Amino acid sequence: MLERLPATPPRLMHGLAMAAVVGQAGIAVTGAVVRVTGSGLGCPTWPECFPGSLVPVPHPEIAVLHQWVEFGNRLLGIALVLITGACLLAALNVRPRRGRLILLAATMPLGVVAQAVIGGVTVLTGLAWYTVAPHFLVTIPLIWLAVLLVRESSPAALATPPGTPWRPAVPQALRGLLAVTSVVLVALLVAGTLVTAAGPHGGDAATPRLEAVPLPTLATAHAHLLFAFLGLLVGVGFMAHAVTVPRAVILRFRVLVVLTLAQGALGGIQYALGVPELLVALHVLGAVVTVAAAAWLWSATAEPDPAPDPVDSPAPALAGRS
Ligand code: HEM
Repeated sequence: MLERLPATPPRLMHGLAMAAVVGQAGIAVTGAVVRVTGSGLGCPTWPECFPGSLVPVPHPEIAVLHQWVEFGNRLLGIALVLITGACLLAALNVRPRRGRLILLAATMPLGVVAQAVIGGVTVLTGLAWYTVAPHFLVTIPLIWLAVLLVRESSPAALATPPGTPWRPAVPQALRGLLAVTSVVLVALLVAGTLVTAAGPHGGDAATPRLEAVPLPTLATAHAHLLFAFLGLLVGVGFMAHAVTVPRAVILRFRVLVVLTLAQGALGGIQYALGVPELLVALHVLGAVVTVAAAAWLWSATAEPDPAPDPVDSPAPALAGRS
């Protein structure tokens, strides 16, 4: 049946991949907004918001804000199902077929299904922190994969023959350092979810909190991991400027540094102010944007490696002499 559909235009594929990045990041943020504003029951029924109404309606006991926050989260969830489904369909219809593109696109709807299951378990455990934290953390690989899908569907990638491998566009040592930096970023994010688990936004009022480690200790560990992350970024910066790298790497590196500094400042301010809801929601937005920026930087460190044209390539005996 797919064969009867017209081939996916490259720009459509690229646009859908970008929409997947926004959708995956956006659902994490709206989910956090639902949690910190206590809007989980803003729409008490499903799929209708209220019995007999698909959309919020004035209600004496449920605040309009809570209704719209929960309703907005539901709408974005539906949009994400549509976007990720369209991503996979579009990838299946790119001509000629590209296995890696299809594989990456398939992770998008699969991720949504996994998140739906974890979300269900989270509700069943009454928002227990050990389910809330993974629910957020699963978003991280999904955003990363969505950014790789953007690269895989870029005009440069689609212009190469299917199966073209990616080769490093920067020295391997730089990629290695960047990989270590990304692992520290993951630790920083995990620590952040543990701070939340021990704090006032770790579930509703009755949900037991993480008590094994005191909150200030967790917050300090979280902040120290930021310093480790920043330190490694400084190393990446020095290395990237010392060798020849594509301009995109330098540009994306700078974006990541600026976002990290802003996110760190926001984290400190929200801690000092007693974690007000608005700042916590912005901090979650900052976290997903930082992850997307790190993945964007990583994706610039490789480029398609088209097979050398036999006419242009040097004879084996001469190769490597220049
Ligand atoms: C790049 C730097 C940072 C990143 C990527 C980051 C990321 C995160 C993440 C993912 C969470 C969990 C959100 C959730 O589960 O809903 C979090 C929570 C938190 N972070 Fe950060 N963070 C950063 C820097 C900081 C800094 C420097 C502080 C200052 C101590 C800080 C303070 C907090 C606090 C207090 C929470 C708990 C908020 C709540 O009550 O839910 N963060 N952070």
